[in-house]
Amino acid sequence: MTAPAPTASRSGTRRASAGRQASASGVGHWSADLRDPAGLRVFVDLLPPRRLGRALDLGAGEGDLALALSARVDRLLALDPDPRALAVLRRRAAAVDPHLRRALQLPARIHNVDPVLAPAESLARWPSGSFELVACRNVLHLLRDAAAVLAEVRRLLRPGGLFLLSEPAVPAAVAAAWSELLSARDGLPQTYRSEAQHRELLVEAGFAARRAGAWSMRHHIPRAGHEELFRRARAVIGAWSDADRGALALRFRGERIEYGYRCPVWACRPVGGPGRAGHQEDER
Ligand SMILES: C[S@@+](CC[C@H](N)C(=O)[O-])C[C@H]1O[C@@H](n2cnc3c(N)ncnc32)[C@H](O)[C@@H]1O
Repeated sequence: MTAPAPTASRSGTRRASAGRQASASGVGHWSADLRDPAGLRVFVDLLPPRRLGRALDLGAGEGDLALALSARVDRLLALDPDPRALAVLRRRAAAVDPHLRRALQLPARIHNVDPVLAPAESLARWPSGSFELVACRNVLHLLRDAAAVLAEVRRLLRPGGLFLLSEPAVPAAVAAAWSELLSARDGLPQTYRSEAQHRELLVEAGFAARRAGAWSMRHHIPRAGHEELFRRARAVIGAWSDADRGALALRFRGERIEYGYRCPVWACRPVGGPGRAGHQEDER
């Protein structure tokens, strides 16, 4: 596997802040790359050309993906359990950043995105077939029971509906150790998975899953404030193979450990019944 390529960025300043992005939410660890229109466009380009009906963004956070998708759907519910993140989303929908507007052809104000303060574990509130599109970017690793949530997503999709899932891909050999390190850093449990593990989860949930694109995200672990973790991370990562370190673009740089993710985007269609899904041909 090759190291993640840096995504396009607006300016050097923006790129410099990509390691540890202070988020309004404080839930998890955020990267400025979540805001990068080039990464968001990967999702928009996977939508069918016709306008879609009702959509759901699962773990919408501060709304980058929800806003990007909004112009292509009638109504989008932006679900997240963090009220501070949703407050940011509301502000951003009321005055869309001009850079994002230009890059994604968005209006100055977005009216069709409704924030919903709830976790992904609460999808039972909607009847089956409620949505034509469900999106979920960089949330699955935060869920205690990802398989149960994916099964619910499948239930919520109309026949012929589309589920766009994106998650960081981590080499299978180091996924458990990596999950442990980042859970310790953020003080919340996280489960990172390999591409093959994501595909397996999707197929088990009853989706035909196609790896349809990818985008990249960079972060770092600073020594300051994380001394013990920093020492542990150096020791753990130091024992990994070059290939595994390379897949996460891991670099020790004095006061910080830099890393990056290649995040595949899975375009998924519900099929007959759970466990009966097949693979689809991936992007080349
Ligand atoms: C890294 S952010 C990604 C935000 C957004 N999906 C994006 O791509 O810009 C992760 C988000 O997952 C949300 N989250 C954490 N636990 C969740 C859960 N159980 N259900 C739904 N969302 C959750 C967090 O509040 C946070 O907003």
